[in-house]
Amino acid sequence: MQGLVVIDGAVGNGKDVSNNNNPTTRTLPSSSSRPTTLPPKLLRRLLFVAVLAVGFVAAVVLLLGARSPTLMIPRLDALSSMTMAAATPCKDEDQALKRWRRGPASAWHNLSDEELLWAASWRPSVARYPYRRVPKVAFMFLTRGPLPLAPLWERFFAGGGDRRRFSVYVHSTPGYRPDFPPESVFYRRQVPSQVTRWGETSMCDAERRLLANALLDPGNERFVLLSESCVPLTSFPAAYAYLTRSRHSFVGAFDDPGPHGRGRYRAGLAPEIRRHQWRKGAQWFELARDLAVDVVADGRYYPKFKEHCRPPCYVDEHYLPTVLSLVAPERIANRSVTWVDWSRGGAHPATFGAGDVDEAFLGRIANTTTATGRPCLYNGQPAEVCFLFARKFAPSALQPLLALAPKMLGYG
Ligand SMILES: *[C@@H]1O[C@H](CO)[C@@H](O)[C@H](O)[C@H]1NC(C)=O
Ligand SMILES: *[C@@H]1O[C@H](CO)[C@@H](O)[C@H](O)[C@H]1NC(C)=O
Ligand SMILES: *[C@@H]1O[C@H](CO)[C@@H](O)[C@H](O)[C@H]1NC(C)=O
Repeated sequence: MQGLVVIDGAVGNGKDVSNNNNPTTRTLPSSSSRPTTLPPKLLRRLLFVAVLAVGFVAAVVLLLGARSPTLMIPRLDALSSMTMAAATPCKDEDQALKRWRRGPASAWHNLSDEELLWAASWRPSVARYPYRRVPKVAFMFLTRGPLPLAPLWERFFAGGGDRRRFSVYVHSTPGYRPDFPPESVFYRRQVPSQVTRWGETSMCDAERRLLANALLDPGNERFVLLSESCVPLTSFPAAYAYLTRSRHSFVGAFDDPGPHGRGRYRAGLAPEIRRHQWRKGAQWFELARDLAVDVVADGRYYPKFKEHCRPPCYVDEHYLPTVLSLVAPERIANRSVTWVDWSRGGAHPATFGAGDVDEAFLGRIANTTTATGRPCLYNGQPAEVCFLFARKFAPSALQPLLALAPKMLGYG
């Protein structure tokens, strides 16, 4: 951290020198042109100051060299090109920072996973954006192939109107070719995908791949993971406000002492993760941008999970809850915003079809507080709305959902 501060200072000095109007550049030539008949007292004092100055400069150079010589180069490059862009006589404000402001036009690319995660891990060190940034919510669909409930989502997004506030990404089985029309929010939003199997690490790889793709757009600020069986429970503006104004990321995390919780802990995860730090939570997360960057950049915990957490240890149910509870416990809400019904028991939650979806059912979901029955918290206060999305819905649920959405869900 200290190293970075010094580098920033060095850049500032460089700029000042070229301005040619700071005190140091003026005193230097004038002192050298002074007559040599200086009183010895003054000379000694000058010499003393000079020795001090040289010592200080040497210390700074040594510090820089010792800390992070590699860090210095890209940062200096980035800063100087940013200064140049800003200095361009105000042509088009939007053009000047284009490279930093806009994501790629298409979700498709030829990057390998390694290249993608690296590219996604960049983040600015200056917290304030030098332009008016409208935060976007990235809706990331982890699917097998078709999106049978897409018409419902289209109406949800149409209710938000503005594509500057959201973006869509779809991960599906490689080779699957969807045929959405150009006006669809899903049109050309496929990301390069890999085979993904339920319960295996490939599932978590796919989640990180989706996050990384969404991170390539600097406008994305909140990242929601969804599946083809998820539906929105509120209007777009309500969901947008809920997510962008939250101080917490919605990641479920709890300590389950039983066989399906701590029982899945693996000794190989120590010393990074101890048994008492082991957490469980639903796979369907929502993350703020800085935590999303931490996740794609994680070279400490993820490799250990990949190596040691094999079925019946499920990476997608333990990796995020455990690691975020460890490194950023105050940043997560310890609850999900995606409603699900586990009351029927078994390895999979209940799936609802045409016969289940009616007004009473949607009202019941909308009135659900939390899985524990206690009211949920939002920014530290008891909240009326706990869930923005729900799963799992079968394709047959589409028609009743479309019919009830305007009255019960606030869109369509
Ligand atoms: C990916 O590579 C293929 C073949 O090399 C090329 O045709 C295509 O334009 C590339 N796509 C992108 C988005 O760069
Ligand atoms: C979530 O749980 C952690 C402990 O793991 C706690 O420190 C944190 O305050 C909790 N978050 C909220 C929003 O209550
Ligand atoms: C949900 O709560 C509202 C307000 O508290 C109430 O009017 C409504 O009847 C409830 N719906 C169901 C299905 O319980």
